[in-house]
Amino acid sequence: MANLKTTFMGLQLDSPIIAGSCGLTADVEKMVKMEEAGVGAVILKSIFEEQINEETTHLFKEGYGVGGGYPEAEDYIKAYIRSNTIQKYVGLVQEAKRRLRIPVIASVNCFSGGEWVTFAKELEEAGADALELNVFILPVNAFQSSSDVENIYFEIVKSIKEQVKIPIMVKISHFFTNLPAFVDKLKAYGADATTLFNRFYEPDIDIESLTIGAASVFSTPAEMRPTLRWTGILAGKDKNLDISASTGVHDGAAIVKLLLAGATTVQLCSVLYERGVEVIGEMNRFIAGWMGSHGFASIADFQGRLSYSSIENPDLYERAQFIKYFSNKQD
Ligand SMILES: Cc1cc2nc3c(=O)[nH]c(=O)nc-3n(C[C@H](O)[C@H](O)[C@H](O)COP(=O)(O)O)c2cc1C
Repeated sequence: MANLKTTFMGLQLDSPIIAGSCGLTADVEKMVKMEEAGVGAVILKSIFEEQINEETTHLFKEGYGVGGGYPEAEDYIKAYIRSNTIQKYVGLVQEAKRRLRIPVIASVNCFSGGEWVTFAKELEEAGADALELNVFILPVNAFQSSSDVENIYFEIVKSIKEQVKIPIMVKISHFFTNLPAFVDKLKAYGADATTLFNRFYEPDIDIESLTIGAASVFSTPAEMRPTLRWTGILAGKDKNLDISASTGVHDGAAIVKLLLAGATTVQLCSVLYERGVEVIGEMNRFIAGWMGSHGFASIADFQGRLSYSSIENPDLYERAQFIKYFSNKQD
């Protein structure tokens, strides 16, 4: 089989395919199966900043009598619960490291550079090879400027970089006014890679019961388009930017497209739930077969070949409107 090795944030991967953070990567047995199937690295299920905070405040707010009204007792119990949640996660990192040969990337879902950042050191000490920060701030305050919101991301990256030496990847959405400028700054603050893009838990409305619930948690292949566009543009603007492409990757062809656009690695999640971990081997074989038939001996031979700066007509990445298409279309 062709050589699928790639270097991502300084880590050596046997395949550019990474198992993205999800429920499956909270289970070491499942991750062992992913490794056997040929995955290049795994990103563990995230520990959530609010999971740590809310777990404690909830108990006190709901009036469970926890702490008996004594502030010292409350402080002690809060610290205990916090450390219990943390210990479980640290245990997951340690066990994954013990059982797996491939790089293990820990993940924190966060929205502030608060108290939790010291926890990153514990993840590093537990053996995590890197850390993915899934940062999302949903701006709903009309008086908060966009630069105030962006500064929170930079503050998080800066404070984490002060805690650890392992590489940091930042998983973001594409809802930024000027994504190239934002990603450039993330890198300047110390981010070693960006994950483009997170897919959110979205609300949906049931028009019969008049209730609000969750939309499908799984992606469709069509959702890969924004990732393809921005991977191509950002990789073209900065050839040294490590991009982990994510969302809507359901087959080997999608991976080849994202690598051609300039991604360094590609993450899978929904497809692992829908088709099982065996899909990883199938995808590796597809990439190898495609490389063979196009005469590429390594990933580096073709990675970024169709990025924004490598093609004759970069407008193809920039074009956002369908004027021509609709003006010619009759039916
Ligand atoms: C059940 C489930 C759980 C997830 N949990 C996390 C998580 O803990 N942290 C995270 O960063 N992303 C999480 N995600 C998002 C995935 O990592 C990924 O970004 C998203 O599903 C888009 O990729 P896909 O199209 O391959 O599914 C989760 C997704 C699913 C479906």
